[in-house]
Formats: sequence, structure tokens, C-alpha cells
Amino acid sequence: MLLSFLPLLLWIAALGSTYSTLSDDTLNSIPGPGDDFNIKSGALLAPILRTRVSGTPGNAAVLQHFVDFFTNTLPEWRLEFHNSTSTTPVSEGKKIPFVNLIATRDPPGSRSGDVGRLVLVAHYDSKLTPTGFIGAIDSAVPCAILLHAARSIDAALTRKWEGMGSDELDERKGVQILLLDGEESFVSWTDTDSLYGARALAEHWESSPHVAPSTYRTPLDSIDLFVLLDLLGASAPNVPSYFKPTHWAYKNMAAIERRLRELRLFKSSANHPARVAKRKNKGLRAEGYFLIDAEKPDHDNNFMGGFVEDDHVPFMVRGVDILHIIPVPFPKVWHEITDDAEHLNMDVVEDWTKLVTAFAAEWMELEGFLNGKDEYHDKTEL
Ligand SMILES: *[C@@H]1O[C@H](CO)[C@@H](O)[C@H](O)[C@H]1NC(C)=O
Ligand SMILES: [Zn+2]
Repeated sequence: MLLSFLPLLLWIAALGSTYSTLSDDTLNSIPGPGDDFNIKSGALLAPILRTRVSGTPGNAAVLQHFVDFFTNTLPEWRLEFHNSTSTTPVSEGKKIPFVNLIATRDPPGSRSGDVGRLVLVAHYDSKLTPTGFIGAIDSAVPCAILLHAARSIDAALTRKWEGMGSDELDERKGVQILLLDGEESFVSWTDTDSLYGARALAEHWESSPHVAPSTYRTPLDSIDLFVLLDLLGASAPNVPSYFKPTHWAYKNMAAIERRLRELRLFKSSANHPARVAKRKNKGLRAEGYFLIDAEKPDHDNNFMGGFVEDDHVPFMVRGVDILHIIPVPFPKVWHEITDDAEHLNMDVVEDWTKLVTAFAAEWMELEGFLNGKDEYHDKTEL
């Protein structure tokens, strides 16, 4: 008797978690960053394009830029600092401060330990050498992309949650942005000279259980997916799918890339109307996809995860699911003085911005709540 209900119950449970894709209209309405990514004067990107070595005034100024952005533009996001200190090979025994910024938006009325989250991550510190290194792709642009994604889904989250009864909010899905400090090594990459902020945060979260009873044991368990962006903004990136357990999420992002290209919304595509208009032969050209493993089968055993060390590692070794969006080979400007604003490919930057924003919107099930009309621009004009 009881068993006969089981298939029905499973079916109902499955209904609640169906992944639905964004409509073409919604993809068309995903806002680009516009002037806010101007490398000289853009409100979001320009303040990050400076040296910001951990423990220096430049680093503190960029952190303040993030705090001001959330405080002024996204007051619904809860801000927390996670501070740690460590000596470095060049600090002569002195402890250097590392400050991670955590911005969280959870459904209203939920307890922190009951929310599973999409966690979007980039590092904001820059490398000590070469002197004057800006790190435009590493990772000023990824940070700016996350700020833009957060503000682009903010109003839609409000609308979605306002319309939900407390029973519907049971699913309790939130979104979190981690802006991490101390990713870069000061001398050369070792287990102790790198990932200062990420290592301290993963350790802290592992040993900070939520008050019982909670759905998730610790803030680490609350991470449904850890999406790490790094080295984005150079031409023709090739981003493989690194991890078999999250290949499904990679494929969801790859499907959005495909659709953005088909809708002619990808500015770096040879088939974008602005590029086609400039050439004689109007014929379609092959697309050079950013996410190159869209067709890789789930049962494939050749995933290259583990070769690229980055801020995900301290989380991954503690069991967190990782989607790592970093190109290989690394862009030519990587860790060179030429990784500056002038060497960015702004079409590629804008394409990544739309792709990441759409991925976050789709993950948060915002179809029907995002529309171009009342996005942040209009709100500030009221
Ligand atoms: C952590 O660092 C930030 C930025 O320097 C500072 O404003 C904050 O007061 C610090 N928090 C604690 C608990 O020390
Ligand atoms: Zn780097």
C-alpha cells in the first residue's frame, strides 16, 4: 500500500526540481555592462584596474569599491568580511592581512543554515610582480562580471520571492558572491605561498557548524555549486569541462552560450550582425565556442580536473562541487605586465558577462521575472 504511492511521490518531488531554461526573450533582455565596463571611467570595472597586492592600500581601495557597490546598489545583499593573517615569503616575519568579502542574497525569512546556494567566485588581489602588474584578466574582469551579474538578477529575485508563499520557499535557494583575497603567490607558487584567502575561508567554514537543526551542517555544505571565474577577458578562450561531477552544470552553461550565439547576442562571434555588416561575404562562419566540451559525453573518463590549481582547491578537497571557468592554454598575457586594461578584448568581456549573468538567472529560475524594462538602469532613473 505504502509502496504504491512511492512512484507518485518521487514524481512530485522531481517536478519541484525541474531545471527550466530561459526563453529567447529573456536571453535577449539580459543586460550588458555598457559604459560601466569602460576601462577608464566605468563605474564597475575601472576602480579594479589598479595594483591591489594583498596588504597594500590599493587592495583596501578595491575592497572598499566592492563594499560601496553592494551597500549603495544592492542593499538586500548581506555583507560579511572574512579576515585572516599570514606571513609570506617576503613579509620578513610580519603578518599580512587577507580580507575575503562575502555577499549573500537568501530568500526572505530563511535561516542561513537552511539555504543552498549558487556561489560565484573570483579573486581580487593582484600579483606583486612584475612591478605595476594590473591583472586585468587576473582577475579584475571576473570580479566586475560578478558585480554585474549580481545587480542584473537582484530585482528579479525580489519579484520571484515576493510572489512565493512560505511553503513554496521551502526549496530555499540563494546566491552568494565570494571576492577572495590572496590568491596570488608572493614569490613562487607553493602550497603555503598561494590561495591565502581561500585556504583560510574553507578551513573556517568547515569548522563553523550551523546551529541545529539546520538543513546544511556547515556553510561549506550550503554550497550547491562553486563557480570560479579566472583569467577571463582575452581573445578566443578555450574552457574545457574539468570535473565529471559537475559536467552537467558545464553543459547547462554551454547550452546558454550556444543559444546566445544563435540569437546573435555574442559580440565576439564572427556571426554577430556588427561583424557581418563589415565584410563582403555575408555567409555564416563557424562559431569558436568558449566552452569547448559541450558535446563531451557524461560517461567520458578524461576530465582534466586537478591540473589547474586555483581558489577552488581548498573547497574541492572538502567535498564541494566545482565549476571552474578558466581557459587553457592560459592567455598569452598571463602574469605578464601586458595583462592590463588595454589588452582586454572588450567584446569577449561583454560576452562572458552575459553568459555568466544568464547562467545565474537560469540557475535561480528567474524566467518570467527578468525583463529588460525594469532592470537596474531604469530603477536609478526613477
Ligand atoms: C575585517 O577587515 C575589514 C576590512 O579591513 C574591516 O573593516 C573589518 O573591521 C575587519 N573585521 C574584523 C572582525 O576584524
Ligand atoms: Zn594570477
